[in-house]
Amino acid sequence: MGKKVIIIGAGGVGNVVAKKCAMNPAYFSEVVLASRTLKKCEAIAEECKKIGLPTSVQTRQVDADDVPALVQLFNQEKPFMVINVALPYQDLTIMDACLATGVHYLDTANYEPKDVAKFEYSWQWAYQERFKKAGLMALLGCGFDPGVTGVYTAYANKHYFDEMHYLDIIDCNAGDHGKAFATNFNPEINIREITQKGKYWENGEWIEIDAMSIHKPISYPNIGPKESYLLYHEELESLVKNFPTIKRARFWMTFGQAYLTHLEVLQNVGMTSIHPIKFNGLDIVPLEFLKAVLPEPGTLGENYSGQTSIGCQIKGTKDNSEVTYYVYNNCHHADCYKEVQAQGVSYTTGVPAMIGASLMCEGVWFNPGVYNVEEFNPDPFMELLNIHGLPWHEEVNGELPHTY
Ligand SMILES: NC(=O)c1ccc[n+]([C@@H]2O[C@H](COP(=O)([O-])OP(=O)(O)OC[C@H]3O[C@@H](n4cnc5c(N)ncnc54)[C@H](OP(=O)(O)O)[C@@H]3O)[C@@H](O)[C@H]2O)c1
Repeated sequence: MGKKVIIIGAGGVGNVVAKKCAMNPAYFSEVVLASRTLKKCEAIAEECKKIGLPTSVQTRQVDADDVPALVQLFNQEKPFMVINVALPYQDLTIMDACLATGVHYLDTANYEPKDVAKFEYSWQWAYQERFKKAGLMALLGCGFDPGVTGVYTAYANKHYFDEMHYLDIIDCNAGDHGKAFATNFNPEINIREITQKGKYWENGEWIEIDAMSIHKPISYPNIGPKESYLLYHEELESLVKNFPTIKRARFWMTFGQAYLTHLEVLQNVGMTSIHPIKFNGLDIVPLEFLKAVLPEPGTLGENYSGQTSIGCQIKGTKDNSEVTYYVYNNCHHADCYKEVQAQGVSYTTGVPAMIGASLMCEGVWFNPGVYNVEEFNPDPFMELLNIHGLPWHEEVNGELPHTY
């Protein structure tokens, strides 16, 4: 018997989560999609009907910055859980509303305050005791990265290693959406992420580097070598905490030259700033204005060609011998569009969110408190990835894409 779920956020990822939930009535008996702009929810619900999904999606308007409005919505709808795929700024207000109404919680990106481009788990981990006491569960970072990358790491640890020592998460988008410049997920969040300083974990401490200053070609399966840049990414924080044998953890992401050139110009002219300026008597934030003129991630799918490849490569030991392990998924943008009218980055985020929620609904992953995905048994999640559209491949002691 499925459970009732509310999805918050009707953007690129919300579209995928809504459709994947509506496709799976065995996990989700009722699906409500709520967002700031009601007509975006309605357009997604209409598409679900058009493509003949078994569950009809109900729609609601809500401002997720407003805790009383969320409390009212949750009290009216009485869902089992909320899947938060709005923006990281809304994580804490939605968690507060969950505590007030007895609703379980899942998200795909950790909280960051609007006025500081800084993301870390401390704010959400601070809810641990309150969720535990209320008998509620919050699952943090259940997209692809963070999300599947944590499940991959837990799976590697469980099945292949006594001790993991070196972790490299490698993320490639070798797709082409045909636009001069666009971001694959929310532009504001994306640009904040890559213009801040890079950071990686080595020998018990964080090493900070200038943004995009370390890069090298990495050879991705079925794609080939692509220049990849060392970034700070949020799952590094929870993974080095939960797997303390890791001596070094890094995150790499590909960027094309045209993207980097556009970004450099936008940065040089001040368009990526998050500090308000006065314009015609109004306070405007340049990055928020930039977001308003860029294509929305949910609109990029139609002519998107090529594929993504995201995986974890790990080095460590088992029975005193050295082991290397690589696990990854490749996902074609065009296949995602055919199935749920989305591009691959929205798809690779939305499918794991639906899978995490299904495991919570079924009680397979369930524990009161606040958790990251790698704290649960990875096996059922890995099985569901193969079933719901993100099949994975692994190589044990094979050649690694990233040479050390
Ligand atoms: N873990 C991963 O692998 C991963 C990967 C990609 C993205 N993400 C995360 O996924 C989330 C969604 O990304 P996206 O690409 O779908 O972004 P998007 O297309 O910009 O969609 C964001 C949605 O949230 C809604 N929203 C924003 N503020 C709201 C508020 N106060 N109340 C209610 N709704 C609000 C927006 O409404 P409007 O339409 O009215 O603006 C929009 O529908 C982001 O947090 C992103 O960081 C995670």
